[in-house]
Amino acid sequence: MLGRSLLNFVLLIVAVTCATAQHVPPWTEDCRKSTYPPSGPTYRGPVPWYTINLDLPPYKRWQELITEKAPALKVIVNSMKDVVNAFVPSGKIMQIVDQKLPGLLGNFPGPYEEEMKGISDITGIPLGVIEWILGKRDAMWIGFISRSVLENCTSYEEAKNILTKSKLLAPAYFILGGNKSGEGCVITRDRRKSLDVYELDSKQDRWYVVETNYDRWKNPFFLDDRRNAAKMCLNHTTQEKISLSTIYDVLSTKPVLNKLTVFTTLMDVTKGQFETYLRDCPDPCIGW
Ligand SMILES: *[C@@H]1O[C@H](CO)[C@@H](O)[C@H](O)[C@H]1NC(C)=O
Ligand SMILES: *[C@@H]1O[C@H](CO)[C@@H](O)[C@H](O)[C@H]1NC(C)=O
Ligand SMILES: *[C@@H]1O[C@H](CO)[C@@H](O)[C@H](O)[C@H]1NC(C)=O
Repeated sequence: MLGRSLLNFVLLIVAVTCATAQHVPPWTEDCRKSTYPPSGPTYRGPVPWYTINLDLPPYKRWQELITEKAPALKVIVNSMKDVVNAFVPSGKIMQIVDQKLPGLLGNFPGPYEEEMKGISDITGIPLGVIEWILGKRDAMWIGFISRSVLENCTSYEEAKNILTKSKLLAPAYFILGGNKSGEGCVITRDRRKSLDVYELDSKQDRWYVVETNYDRWKNPFFLDDRRNAAKMCLNHTTQEKISLSTIYDVLSTKPVLNKLTVFTTLMDVTKGQFETYLRDCPDPCIGW
């Protein structure tokens, strides 16, 4: 009974929220202006910056960063072990992960095996556990693909080709920008192939593309229409005025900014700029 009445309560809240939320303040607002450089209650601070020197041999690349992060990493590993051991108290599962997993999975490709061995030796966390944390390879492939594109592709076309054609272990959206006119697209992927490549198109006056974690041909969840909010703000400005500053304005406008927004990253491929800011969305703000 308790469960059901709680559920009714939740449904009621959801129903009330539905009726009021989507296009009505305080959950939405007029497109923000002059929010950059970041400050005020929606800005929680910068993220730390680390340099990974890819000229070092793979085994050594992560030494500095991981030495600093080892204590935090060990806390995470221990709490994950506690959860597993609570379900299977014999400790057998973790023993298998520790000792057998590396062999079972075989080697990771490219530099990754050696990089993870380096991390394992610095932290004393067994290699199998590190592979397990990184998602037993499943989610990792997206990371592998992005990393190898960033590391080794030398043109927009080459990057687009690889992101469109490589096999993945999970569906993904890739948002890609080049440094020449017309170079920009959103690639919607399932595991085997690309489902859609949506590109900039001057003939159709399409000077921007927007991706908010829904397939382009599907409607967003009705409480989460960041797509049209972002488009509306972009429509209020012009291509000539686009800059890190005006993009930050769009990404600071509710509900594009919401309670699930962890950080905002701004990039300019031509100027080589890359800035990341931790975000907050104080009440009233939608998003669980
Ligand atoms: C990039 O290419 C180099 C040279 O072929 C190779 O050693 C390296 O593993 C590649 N990087 C990734 C992440 O695949
Ligand atoms: C774009 O990037 C390529 C490759 O780095 C470079 O050769 C070219 O000069 C760049 N073009 C512009 C307009 O920045
Ligand atoms: C933004 O402009 C485009 C192109 O004119 C138009 O198709 C779209 O409906 C507009 N969207 C919003 C939310 O204003």
